[in-house]
Amino acid sequence: MMPEEIEDHAGESAREILKTIAEPARVAVVLGSGLGGLADRLADRVVLPYAMIPHFPRPTVEGHKGLLVSGSVGGVPVLVLQGRFHYYEGYGLDEVTFPVRVLQRLGVRTLILTAATGGIALSLRAGSIVCLEDHLNLIGANPLRGPNDRRLGERFPDMSEVYSSRLRTIAFEEAGKLGLDLASGVYACLPGPSYETPAEIRMLRTLGADVVGMSTVPEAIVARHGGLEVLALAVVTNAAAGVSGGLISHAEVVEAGQAATPLVGALIEGVVQRLEAGAW
Ligand code: HPA
Repeated sequence: MMPEEIEDHAGESAREILKTIAEPARVAVVLGSGLGGLADRLADRVVLPYAMIPHFPRPTVEGHKGLLVSGSVGGVPVLVLQGRFHYYEGYGLDEVTFPVRVLQRLGVRTLILTAATGGIALSLRAGSIVCLEDHLNLIGANPLRGPNDRRLGERFPDMSEVYSSRLRTIAFEEAGKLGLDLASGVYACLPGPSYETPAEIRMLRTLGADVVGMSTVPEAIVARHGGLEVLALAVVTNAAAGVSGGLISHAEVVEAGQAATPLVGALIEGVVQRLEAGAW
């Protein structure tokens, strides 16, 4: 996709979505590996398969369904992307981040990203939830590379606060109410699909990373370019390579993501309700 096509394609996708979902929510949630069950918690669900939306890629990974779900949590409308696209699937970063452009076009203002991650910080355990405070983009590419379409955002967007401190404060307050020990950390994004080696994890720790994953960062960069406010919640599904000595499998990642789904769901519900209560 050429950069100048993104806006047109996103417009066409948005128009199609609006035929089914007349009034899209202002807050959207992207669900990571194993976290798809969060979409089942929505009330008043309207489901639109990605296959029905023009220009939308199709997810190829187990644990990622490919559904746009409109609904509400605690009476508050949300749009949920159940299934995301990854660079390692072979998609370009423009395709990986295309759904974010569509959300931008639909008027979404707040984006909540979720992800399965490996825990690098020794204080983290499988099941820990980490609110991202910053990231390291180690994909080796940037979704904004190429001619800049000023309708989408500016050429050199600031990245000094990708993850909104306002939303992080709300997340910590809501976690406190739930008795949830929410951690704060830096996410290192690698291209994958192989998991890291123990030497790579030692390198990432030296660089200041607390968790590692293969998603989230391209979407966060594009969301900031498009003026959306971003909150990202990472579920630690496994100790990163070499941290605990065990091997890492996708099945374990999906299972641990599923186990954390109720807690992450409760946290998102709390955050979304605060937004609706006037914190926009
Ligand atoms: N590394 C990279 N991505 C991941 C991991 C990991 O250990 N666990 C879940 N996603």
